[in-house]
Amino acid sequence: MLTIEQFGSSTGKIVSSKTSQSILSLSSDEVLEQFKLFGLLFFRGFGVTYEEMREFSEKFSSKFVRDPARQIVGSFDDFIQMVDNGMDEVLPHCENAVSPFRPDIVWFCCGVPAAQDGETLFWDGIKVWEKLSEPVKELFLSKKVKFRFIFPVDNWKLFFGRETTIADVKQIFDKIKEVNYHFQEDDSIYFEYTCSAVVKTKFDNQYAFANSIIIWHKEQDDFEKEAFDIQETDLVVVFEDGSLIPNAVINEIKEVMDKLTGVISWQTGDIVMIDNSRFLHGRRAFQDNRRQIFSHLSYLKS
Ligand SMILES: [Fe+2]
Repeated sequence: MLTIEQFGSSTGKIVSSKTSQSILSLSSDEVLEQFKLFGLLFFRGFGVTYEEMREFSEKFSSKFVRDPARQIVGSFDDFIQMVDNGMDEVLPHCENAVSPFRPDIVWFCCGVPAAQDGETLFWDGIKVWEKLSEPVKELFLSKKVKFRFIFPVDNWKLFFGRETTIADVKQIFDKIKEVNYHFQEDDSIYFEYTCSAVVKTKFDNQYAFANSIIIWHKEQDDFEKEAFDIQETDLVVVFEDGSLIPNAVINEIKEVMDKLTGVISWQTGDIVMIDNSRFLHGRRAFQDNRRQIFSHLSYLKS
């Protein structure tokens, strides 16, 4: 039996071990059952290393996903990576939610916590959706959003595999009606992905405001000041028709989310398993360059 407790005031759960048992000895069926119910399981007391994280995650995963922005740990094919680079704050987002390749599960494992700050933050998208006002809900139910960005050649090679050719990429993208793209002269890809900001959760088909709008929104003033050139802009999100998401809407989302923030204060050996169709995550800034949080992104075994 798993020892499960409430995780603060969040909807996530803590699975704890007082006896330093290996995480690999837990019943996969039980873990999966709880994961499907609660969407975020945080394991403490199991002293998990990143190698064990890989082994544990393999029990639940059919395939791993590479995030091109992340530094790889170990060999190229390990798919274990350091989390987002730098030490700045990372605003709420879902992993790879700006493309049709959103992984099902996000895994983080703590090697070394920051001496101070650097907490991972999380938000239950079901709760965020419930708390948004009716006009904002209607806006996002009636209008899709569009993420636009450039996919540099090194990044798409890393994402799809070193041997992938332009023809292979075309074959993949041409089948996805939500994707609009073209190759540029340097073989980078101009990429647009249109999707709803409100998704249905993988396990119980509920509405969740689980997306990457907050992290990619550009303040309206900034947007207008700049001579907007997609090639100099990493990524922006707009409505499907090209109009901007009003700042007032973004502010409402932020206010709702502020009240629902879950906090992971890391200790070495902690691991968290996050349903990426339901929860958003982010990070507080920190100043300790010894901080090591490993990540792993995967699709659920069917
Ligand atoms: Fe992330």
